[in-house]
Amino acid sequence: MVEVACLQDRETQQILSQQAAYMADVRERMKTRTRGDKPLAFVRTYGCQQNVADGEKIKGLLAEMGFSFTDGPEEADLILFNTCAVREHAEDRVFGNVGALKHIKKRHPSVVIAVCGCMTEQEQVAQRLKKSFPFVDLVFGTHVIHRLPEMLSTCLSQEKRVYLHGEDGEEVLEGLPVRRDGTSRAWVTVMVGCDNFCSYCIVPYVRGREKSREPQFILEEFRQLVAEGYKEITLLGQNVNSYGKGLNEDINFAELLRRLDAVEGDYRIRFMTSHPKDASKELFDVIAHSRHIPHFIHLPFQSGNDRVLKEMNRRYTREQYLELIRYARSVMPDVSFTSDVIVGFPGETYEEFQDTLSLIREVEFTNLFTFIYSPREGTRAAKLPDPVSHEEKTQWFAQLLKAQEEIAVRRSQAMVGRVERVLVEDRTPKTALLSGRTAGSLMVDFPGGDELLGQFATVKVTGAKGWTLTGELVE
Ligand code: SAH
Ligand code: SF4
Ligand code: F3S
Repeated sequence: MVEVACLQDRETQQILSQQAAYMADVRERMKTRTRGDKPLAFVRTYGCQQNVADGEKIKGLLAEMGFSFTDGPEEADLILFNTCAVREHAEDRVFGNVGALKHIKKRHPSVVIAVCGCMTEQEQVAQRLKKSFPFVDLVFGTHVIHRLPEMLSTCLSQEKRVYLHGEDGEEVLEGLPVRRDGTSRAWVTVMVGCDNFCSYCIVPYVRGREKSREPQFILEEFRQLVAEGYKEITLLGQNVNSYGKGLNEDINFAELLRRLDAVEGDYRIRFMTSHPKDASKELFDVIAHSRHIPHFIHLPFQSGNDRVLKEMNRRYTREQYLELIRYARSVMPDVSFTSDVIVGFPGETYEEFQDTLSLIREVEFTNLFTFIYSPREGTRAAKLPDPVSHEEKTQWFAQLLKAQEEIAVRRSQAMVGRVERVLVEDRTPKTALLSGRTAGSLMVDFPGGDELLGQFATVKVTGAKGWTLTGELVE
């Protein structure tokens, strides 16, 4: 068991030492190529937290190659877009923004332009980037992030465009440098990929099969973050509840949480995303008895109608979902939920959509992430007849937002008078108030000094306007 881990480690070490040689090469070349005193990179990440975590690894690699970072693409020597493919709108935005770089490249031909992430894993997108965006120098997929030094070295030394797709399973899960964006909140990937193939979703195609990280590496990274003073650590995976599949050790997500929760310190553990079909009673029991896990779960239900759920290949029914909610509430009366919903799945009728409305009223989520169905080429749902017009779906969508708004306002009002421990995230420029997040992931604005930024504070909720909470510090 341990031997396999060591073997993986040796292989990884070999790969990383090869990349280290390329890093040295890029560092040297960039010294003369930069337009300023030192090489600057502009990195923009789209999409989910998984992509944000990848972006932090990309920045880690770039930092080791001597790059500093800028928010201005105009002054950058390297511009990189880390893209998302989950909905058409997200892709259109990226194409628009990449297109706009043409002018920068014209003004500064030495700038290196790179596009990576989930979009590039789709053949038709990679082809389009190749043909219609000749000023893009580097295109690479989600499995080969660790080879960025090699790709950059080839691009710079041979002055040629580089395309690298890579194989599913080629990704390096351990040992990559990370340049974290935050100082109080951090992401820890526990698994990558997805095996679920929900019929509307592109993620399994662009991220490959599920792979879990060895628990000892996760624990090591987690301990380090706690020791560095991080206050909120979010465990990431497309389906964290199936963590452990394929590992030598017999471990599930609930057990991983138990081990992490045992680490001493003043911090919170969050995690996303939980798939209802794999959410177990054991998971809720662990949360209920934990010291560091808020009584809060993001549990996407997608639709409240059994026929639609079946067509979506979600593998649970409305009743099974509600049973999970009931169980969680029985062991944690104060638990709160957020969720993801899709409106207008192909063939969904107005009556079926009403089941989604009734489900949100029944559960009373504190927040919903709502999406109009977007067909993704290559997925099963994209081939289904889709008779309802976009206009009609937009009307349903508006109904859903209105229903959720009423629920959120009610829930916010019920918070008035409560004393909450919040993690202070930032200062809202418009009001100059601090913004802190409660255990249940609600934002509370309150007056306070800068020394509280990134720290926990105890706040009494004094008002609720719409779903915005205001409060005051409690000594
Ligand atoms: N793995 C996570 C979420 C991945 S994508 C999960 O299973 O919950 C985030 C959300 O985007 C999904 O929960 C879903 O609500 C939405 N989504 C995914 N594909 C979509 C599509 N083709 N059209 C509209 N929304 C979609
Ligand atoms: Fe997509 Fe379903 Fe996998 Fe989530 S669980 S990433 S929605 S296929
Ligand atoms: Fe988007 Fe890829 Fe995440 S498609 S939602 S960035 S896994």
